[in-house]
Amino acid sequence: MATMESLIGLVNRIQRACTVLGDYGGNEGGSSLPTLWEALPSVAVVGGQSSGKSSVLESIVGRDFLPRGSGIVTRRPLVLQLHKTEKGQAEYGEFLHCPRKRFPDFSSIRKEISDETERITGKSKQISNVPIHLSIYSPNVVNLTLIDLPGMTKVAVEGQPESIVHDIDNMVRSYVDKPNCIILAISPANQDIATSDAIKLAREVDPSGERTFGVLTKLDLMDKGTDALDVIEGRSYRLQHPWVGIVNRSQADINKNVDMMAARRKEREYFASSPEYGHLASKMGSEYLAKLLSKHLEIVIRSRIPSILALIGKTIDELEAELDRLGRPIGGDAGAHLYTILDMCRAFDRVFKEHLDGGRPGGDR
Ligand code: GDP
Ligand code: NA
Ligand code: MG
Repeated sequence: MATMESLIGLVNRIQRACTVLGDYGGNEGGSSLPTLWEALPSVAVVGGQSSGKSSVLESIVGRDFLPRGSGIVTRRPLVLQLHKTEKGQAEYGEFLHCPRKRFPDFSSIRKEISDETERITGKSKQISNVPIHLSIYSPNVVNLTLIDLPGMTKVAVEGQPESIVHDIDNMVRSYVDKPNCIILAISPANQDIATSDAIKLAREVDPSGERTFGVLTKLDLMDKGTDALDVIEGRSYRLQHPWVGIVNRSQADINKNVDMMAARRKEREYFASSPEYGHLASKMGSEYLAKLLSKHLEIVIRSRIPSILALIGKTIDELEAELDRLGRPIGGDAGAHLYTILDMCRAFDRVFKEHLDGGRPGGDR
């Protein structure tokens, strides 16, 4: 069991494979690959502009690596796959669009995200639905996949087409509408929760609150004499999962280059010494949030193994039928492509079944 790839890592691998193969021309032989990708659970980060989305992501990763600036900085979905490595290992990032190139330096990761965003959207302020896939390998992360999306906005700013408000809304919805999507809904504590973009959306697409995790940022910026206990304790807006309060770096901290590890420490101290939230300290903060999400994602994936296996089986059947129809052996790119997908599906089928066996005594190998 110990050497078995984590379920989250395994699902990451399928997601990457589906993306790469999708790029070659998509739905070959009517395969179920696109359906397979949709069936895989993921966590999407949603919230209004400046609600603290980037800060939460960086805190979960423990590094600065996201482009900053005013206006709409995130203009393509960023699929961020975190892989926990052994203590003492060097951290690095890897992009799907730059195979086999390691980015050990997080400022170069930031630059590559910006450059790759512009490669598709141009320097214009347009957005694109084509995701960027970034994997981060680090001893300081938990196994987790998060999708960063553009912040919801109500007005287009200068240089942006009027349609941008609508385009962003559509893009965010295309993720959170899926029943397999776990919603990380970010709201700032210094605004009335009733006006939160994230909560408005979550209320619409997940009225029972079973797949929404409420995150309340900027607790340190609330007016003196007020607190967020009504929200955090679920009285203002009830969710099935507990709310998590967060204190990210302020703009002044960022300007002073306070590093993420120091920020995590400061956040821990804030909760431990807080008169309002001290009794909840062990269930607050970005490190707790990361662990909570990782555990939840693992449980959700495990519960979906049978349906994922059924889809993989269906894809294998379809590919074999398609290859029969074409008559073997077939050459060229198309043939090689079909065989690649088939091999991949068979390999995934085997590993998922191992996970099922691993769950039973004696099933270890
Ligand atoms: P995004 O637009 O949702 O990605 O928001 P950012 O993460 O970029 O944060 C917007 C601004 O709010 C930045 O200047 C952050 O430093 C600041 N900020 C975010 N979270 C907090 C917080 O918990 N406390 C404080 N004091 N500032 C925060
Ligand atoms: Na918001
Ligand atoms: Mg941001």
